[in-house]
Amino acid sequence: MEEKNNNVDKEFDEFLDNELNDKLETSIDELEKRKIDNKRIKKIDQSKKRATIESVFDERTVFQLNKILVNGPLERIEGIISSGKEANVYLAYDQNGFEVAVKIYKIDSNTSRWMRNYIIGDPRFKKIPSNVSKIIYLWASKEFKNLKRAYKVGLSVPKPIFIKSNILLMEYIGFESIPAPILKDIKKPKDPINLFNEILDFIKILYQNAKLVHGDLSEFNILYHNQKPVVIDISQAVSIQHPKAEVYLVRDIKNIFKFFEKFGIGLPDPKKFYYEVTNPRN
Ligand SMILES: Nc1ncnc2c1ncn2[C@@H]1O[C@H](COP(=O)(O)OP(=O)(O)OP(=O)(O)O)[C@@H](O)[C@H]1O
Ligand SMILES: [Mg+2]
Repeated sequence: MEEKNNNVDKEFDEFLDNELNDKLETSIDELEKRKIDNKRIKKIDQSKKRATIESVFDERTVFQLNKILVNGPLERIEGIISSGKEANVYLAYDQNGFEVAVKIYKIDSNTSRWMRNYIIGDPRFKKIPSNVSKIIYLWASKEFKNLKRAYKVGLSVPKPIFIKSNILLMEYIGFESIPAPILKDIKKPKDPINLFNEILDFIKILYQNAKLVHGDLSEFNILYHNQKPVVIDISQAVSIQHPKAEVYLVRDIKNIFKFFEKFGIGLPDPKKFYYEVTNPRN
């Protein structure tokens, strides 16, 4: 891991000396030229676009993004789906013309501070880097690994495609250029009972088979696609061995039960469900 990072550093320095300035200009100009032609993909006001791009695209990110655009697997970036505190998500196209979601974490020292707390308790990450960007890279790779683990056991999450530094590529959830809405924005799901049960199954299988607890599960991190839930934003998920895993699990369960309360469907006892998840044999 260290050796790999050193190579990236070396490569990056060489690139800086040679052609970064040119490419930096080109890639930002290219992005600015793109037509964002859809209602759901937020149109970026031209006067604010440079600022939006630059707030995420520090030099190193632009360098990596350029490599991904030149050498694959991406062909072009179409527009922004979501701009958040920690990350921006973009709609892009791969070399075969298929949609891909690109999540780019911002290199930010405040963010890296709280991320550190989640990484420290996780037995999968023994060495905690001190450098801000390396913590963010680790965080992005944590989301990638968690997605892989969930996807492998057949859960409904976007298929992870590629990870490099703070740039994560995953399956795009949506129809053509219209991304799937988050569950929070669905006033009347067609079959709330079924939806609720599918989300409970998700929690159970994630715990029992993938040995993970999502840790930020709510109507904000579930996409509603084809009347089915697709769970996203799994970066903070912890192993069930994590000292706070059960606390996070209780919080996830509470969030989901609270959201479904308003549909007037009969809900089971959340405590009973908690024990069903954590003690499958009882
Ligand atoms: N695979 C995907 N396909 C389509 N849309 C996506 C996908 N992943 C994320 N999105 C959209 O991007 C938004 C933000 O994604 P996500 O929840 O993963 O980021 P976040 O960590 O919450 O970002 P922040 O906390 O900085 O807002 C989602 O609410 C969703 O609208
Ligand atoms: Mg989110």
